[in-house]
This record gives sequence, structure tokens and C-alpha cells, in this order.
Amino acid sequence: GLVPLAGAKAQDYPTRAISMIVPFAAGGPTDTVARLIAESMSRSLGQQIVVENVGGAGGTRGAGQVAKATPDGYTILLHHIGQATSATLYRKLPYNVLTDFEEVGLVTDVPMTMIAKASLEPKDIAALVAYVKENKDKVIYGNAGVGSASHLCGMLFMSALGTPMTTVPYQGTGPAMNDLVGGQIDLMCDQTTNTTGQIKAGKVKAYAVTTKNRLKALPDVPTMQEGGVKDFEIAVWHGMYAPKGTPPAVVAKLNAALKQALQDPKVIARFADLGTEPVSQERATPEVHKAFVASEVAKWKPVIEQAGIFAD
Ligand code: MLT
Repeated sequence: GLVPLAGAKAQDYPTRAISMIVPFAAGGPTDTVARLIAESMSRSLGQQIVVENVGGAGGTRGAGQVAKATPDGYTILLHHIGQATSATLYRKLPYNVLTDFEEVGLVTDVPMTMIAKASLEPKDIAALVAYVKENKDKVIYGNAGVGSASHLCGMLFMSALGTPMTTVPYQGTGPAMNDLVGGQIDLMCDQTTNTTGQIKAGKVKAYAVTTKNRLKALPDVPTMQEGGVKDFEIAVWHGMYAPKGTPPAVVAKLNAALKQALQDPKVIARFADLGTEPVSQERATPEVHKAFVASEVAKWKPVIEQAGIFAD
């Protein structure tokens, strides 16, 4: 077929709406970050960015769709740490995490919270640890599938306790949260972008945050460390991607709009309410993002192999 006139097209880009694939169900934390960023980027690019939720297989179905899309800048991906962990968790991925994407830039690092249905008995994280060790796979843990951040946090928690739980996968932690609030499942580790509101409304019980220090947004929730769960630190970084081969001038335009969104007072304020903040302008470059993905794949590979949890 015709080789697209990259130069000319890139110069006019964007001339129509852009699709931003979110590889999890609507209403979850990834979707929340995506819609906030998309709304701000639409303004600076002068074209609508339409968020499309493509769930399944812990985020790898949506990521795969973008890897195979036409590299013209009209299909982009907003994904998180699962982009790096899935490289090891899925031994037969239909795409290569390190070579099938153009990184556009990092977006934000979101803390996680270990939360439970409001009626769960243990009164604090130390009691929860004893409860899970006692009840093992009678404890129902909800996540967004192997490769999701909630899966990774649960895997680390089960490894730290040396105890299995029964896990129930959802298309995203939006739907999983509905079942947690309804009491259908017992426990979930999810991002503050999804849990802060429910915790403050008393709809779920917050046992710990997964960061080194307590969060301004949730000052009364202790850290895992305080609760005696050592070396348990995880923050869910989010990044934006285009398919490999997207013209550099197009990637540069997307990156410029992303960097502008990360300085948008509305985005900053909303992120703060949700317990997070945009990455610095220095971190929001394609080069830094690309190097970071490679380092994260290398970081989590031995941890996942040691846990022995693979999706396929
Ligand atoms: C995850 O656990 O990876 C996310 O919370 C999924 C989502 O954004 O729904």
C-alpha cells in the first residue's frame, strides 16, 4: 500500500478525533486518569480524544489492540504498571512490550490501599494479616485480572504472608469495587483514584496504604510498614503509548499536549483530591518513559518468577 506521507500528515496532525484505549472497564482508576488527561489534551490539540474501554486479560487485550493499530497517532493507549508486569506474566503475549510501542510519556504514580468490605471483622492491618493467615482461601480477593495493578498488589500481599487467597478477576476494579461495597467479596488492593471517595464515605474499610509514608488525602490510614508488613511498597505508575512506527512529529505533538495537561490546574487539583499528583515535566518525556518501562520489566521479572504466578 501507499507509504503514508508521514511529513505532511504529521504536520497537520491531528485533523480528526483521537481514540484513547483504556485497557480496563469504565469507572476504574485507569479510566479516571485517562478521562482527566484526555479532556485536557483535547483542548490543546483542538480535536476530541475519545476514551474507549477495552477490558480483558489484565489489560493485555486493550494494549494488544493498540500494538496492532495503524501507527498514525489516532489510536493511543493509557496504561499503567501492568504494561511492564505483563511482559513476564504472559509468556505468549501477541505483542512485544519493549518494541511494539512508541512511549509518549509518563503521567502519574498512584498509591494503593488495602481495603475490605465494611463488615470484615479485623480491626487493623496486623489483625487482617492474622485473619488472612487463619482463613487462607476462604478470603475472597477481587482484582482486575492477571496483569492488573490489583493483581500485582494481591500477589505481593500473598507472598509476604505466605498465604493463598481465592481471587476473583473483574474487567476492572470499578466493577470489583461495586461487589466489595456490596459485600460480595472480602478484600481488594486498589488505587487511591478509585478508593479515596469510598473510604471517606465509609463504604469500605481501609487497612493500609502501600506507600512509604501516609497520604495527605488519607491521613488516618497507616502504612503497611506500620502494620508490620515489611518491604511492601508499590505505586502504580501510568504512561501513554502509540503504536510502533507512529511518526516522531506526531509523538512529539502528543507529548507536548500531555506535558501541558500535567500542568493543567484542573488536572492537578483533581489528582490531589484522589491522592496522587502528575509526574514532573522532566519525567514526562518519551525517552525517560521508554527507559523506565525497560527498567520496570527487569525489576518485576524476578519477583513474578519467584511468586510463580503466570497467566498462560
Ligand atoms: C488495576 O487493578 O490494574 C486497575 O485498578 C484496573 C482498573 O483501572 O480498573
